[in-house]
Amino acid sequence: MVFIRPYQESDFEACAHICRATLPPSLSTTPITAKLAPYIWTHQYTHLSPPTCHMLVDDDDAIQADTSSSPSGPAGGGGKVVGYCIGCPDVFTFAERYPSYITSILSAAVAPPPPLPPSSSPGPTPSSSLEEEAAEPFWIPNDTTLTPSGTAPLAAKKPNPAALVRLAYDPQRLLGLHRPTTTSPAAQGWRATMHIDLLPAYQRRGWGRRLVDAYVRSVRASGEDYGRGAWIGIAPDNAAVVEFYEKVGFRLVAPREGESGGGEDGIQMVIDIAKT
Ligand SMILES: CC(C)(COP(=O)(O)OP(=O)(O)OC[C@H]1O[C@@H](n2cnc3c(N)ncnc32)[C@H](O)[C@@H]1OP(=O)(O)O)[C@@H](O)C(=O)NCCC(=O)NCCS
Repeated sequence: MVFIRPYQESDFEACAHICRATLPPSLSTTPITAKLAPYIWTHQYTHLSPPTCHMLVDDDDAIQADTSSSPSGPAGGGGKVVGYCIGCPDVFTFAERYPSYITSILSAAVAPPPPLPPSSSPGPTPSSSLEEEAAEPFWIPNDTTLTPSGTAPLAAKKPNPAALVRLAYDPQRLLGLHRPTTTSPAAQGWRATMHIDLLPAYQRRGWGRRLVDAYVRSVRASGEDYGRGAWIGIAPDNAAVVEFYEKVGFRLVAPREGESGGGEDGIQMVIDIAKT
């Protein structure tokens, strides 16, 4: 039987596995990126906001036997975690709590980033997130993926591991709070945010919609100020999922084209969550 239940601490490794197993090509092809990914997009939500983190679990023994070598094998509490929808109700409160995530989880797994070199422009070392973004871009040229003739790059850019580490340590950048108010959905009132990933065998069976519903209900019940609703960022090379989000109630607020320095959030969408 497949069902949805709240996050439990024993789901930590399963969540990491699902995050890595469902990364878009731009992020999955580099081993260091795949290693870092759950520390950037998964573990802080389950650590800081477990009531708004929902696990899709399969307790079917036959399916577990097929996949028991996977890191997401049978978890405490019974069943194998095969997907999640995780998030928080208010990114501003979440950013304030973020140091607890750094101390308890992140710093034990990922060394803090070194100070940035002085910027070329006059003035001291970059002090704001925007300056940091310019000094250490998220995307760097991918010169290892040229075709044999060397004429057509298969992928022109790859994520910069140093920028990924900095992103994991910087909730302002991670949540888009460093952007001008005009381009920050959170500043415009969609204060909640979420991520959803299902292992391939569980996709297209209606669970994504149910997980989003569970997340929305939990945001409403959280007691936190979620404003107008939730905002999400989608990797530019994962544009196919826009249709899923539109079907479950999201709408686009930024064009599909163009990548921003935040890396993952080239496409931005929002969902309104009415107050109860
Ligand atoms: C994207 C994802 C979360 C969708 O979950 P899901 O369980 O497959 O979606 P559902 O079965 O609940 O589908 C709900 C609706 O969206 C549609 N849909 C789902 N995925 C779609 C896709 N990739 N393209 C177009 N439509 C899609 C379904 O057909 C369904 O439409 P219907 O209501 O008219 O029948 C899931 O496929 C997934 O985890 N993908 C890999 C990781 C990922 O890309 N995560 C999102 C990162 S931003």
